[in-house]
Parts: sequence; C-alpha cells; structure tokens
Amino acid sequence: MTTTARKPVVVVLSGAGISRESGLKTFRDGDGLWENHKVEDVATPEAWARDREMVLRFYDQRRLQLDGVQPNPAHRVLADLESDFDVRIVTQNVDDLHERAGSTQVLHLHGELRKVRPEDDPGLDDAGTFVVGGEVVPGPSVGLGDVCPRGVQLRPHVVWFGEAVPMMEAAMETVSFADALLVVGTSMQVYPAAGLVHCARSGCRIAMVNPDASSVIGFESVVDDFIQAPASEGVVEWARRLRIA
Ligand code: APR
Repeated sequence: MTTTARKPVVVVLSGAGISRESGLKTFRDGDGLWENHKVEDVATPEAWARDREMVLRFYDQRRLQLDGVQPNPAHRVLADLESDFDVRIVTQNVDDLHERAGSTQVLHLHGELRKVRPEDDPGLDDAGTFVVGGEVVPGPSVGLGDVCPRGVQLRPHVVWFGEAVPMMEAAMETVSFADALLVVGTSMQVYPAAGLVHCARSGCRIAMVNPDASSVIGFESVVDDFIQAPASEGVVEWARRLRIA
C-alpha cells in the first residue's frame, strides 16, 4: 500500500477587491454607490418586495457585465497554486472569476450571479443555472413570471443584507482546516464573513492583501503578514512567499 503526502491546505477569503482589476467595482470604495445604486435599494429583501422588476433588471445588468470581464493575475495565481497546495477559496463575490481562472474549490458565501432560485427558498438546494421548468432561460435575463418547476418566482441566488448566510457553517469548517490563510480584497466590514479569520487554528499563518492600509485595523492581532498592494501584485507576492516557506 502506498500513501501520498497531503498537500498543505491553503484557504483564501476573497472580496470585491480581487475583481477590481478585472473591471468590477467594489462596494465601499469611492462614491459609496454600487454601480450607481445604493446597495439597500437593490440588495435587500425590502427592495425585492418593493420592486422586483428593478431588482431583476439590476442583476441582469451585473450578469451582462460579467460576460465582458476576465480573471486577472490574482485569480490566476490562486488557480495555479493548486499544483502544490489544496487551495480552497471562500469568496464573498458573486462573480465567477475564480472558477474561470481555473480554481476548482470555490465556496460562494454570498451566492452566485449566474444562479437563480425560487423566492421562497433561502437555502441552496433548489439553486440552478438558469433552468426554468426544465428549459434553459434564453440569455442572461430573468423576468417576472420566470418560475421554478413548483411555480414559484425565481430570484437572484444572492444573499442580500438582512438575510441568513446558509454557507457560513461550511465556510467556518473550511477555514478551520487551513495551514495558511489569505484574506484579499475585502474591507472586512460585513459580518459574519469578516469573523471567519477567527476560525483559523492556532499556528495557521494569516496574510492580508489590500492596497488600503486601514483594512487591517481591528485585525492586527490575527494577521501575521500585511501586504499593502493591489491584488494582482500582492497575491503574486504572497504566493511567492508561500512557495518558499
Ligand atoms: N486589490 C485588492 N483589494 C482592493 C483593490 C485591489 N485592486 N481595490 C480595492 N480593494 C479593496 C478595498 O481597499 C476594500 O478594502 O477591496 C475592498 C473592497 O471592500 P468592499 O467594497 O467592502 O467589498 P467586500 O469586502 O467584498 O464587501 C463584502 O458586502 O455589499 C456586501 O455582499 C456584499 O460581498 C459583499 C460584502
């Protein structure tokens, strides 16, 4: 009988900043608006109750925008690391740039733009990729009247403010396995996601990559290495250090 050596587990907590250099805006930089909308006007259950058409149109636009952008070097270097490490991505992003770069283990804490689910289903079980009543929805749009096989209106498969985060337990477990943890491109303002760093076991080396020095404030006691740089440079540098450690 032979045994193969276990690859070290590397967990990456990513946020909107990792996709910034691909051309997607972050939530809390600049003018405080997300693609010209207040987040609460498009990403809350109240917004959905008030104006479903507007919310659906907003997410249609985000999906169209996603078709026009590509993974950047930060996404790609994380995918390349899989040759030597067991890389598990826990992302707050709803884009699919980690997958398109080649990462194979991606947990989406806040949902996925390319999926829809029945509006009465808070979990993930019924989430699908634009399959409505067995038919693939033409194009990226979802309209009022597009329903699941049970006849329930479809909504974006996105966790909105004020909603539970169904993948949280799985994310906590993933982080607890980490031999090394990277936090990249997140302002660490949104809980429970930001609390995940505290699930790392003692001895796990924690790095943070962010061009904004203030992003580490409040996490100084857990972060071992802070790399102040945009993701495309900072993640490459972190990966270089990881390989020689
Ligand atoms: N490279 C790396 N980080 C960057 C870059 C870059 N090129 N540009 C900006 N950043 C950093 C910013 O300094 C900021 O700390 O990315 C972070 C983006 O923070 P947020 O906009 O708050 O995004 P995020 O942390 O992902 O938000 C969390 O909030 O609105 C909700 O559900 C939404 O998942 C989202 C959650």
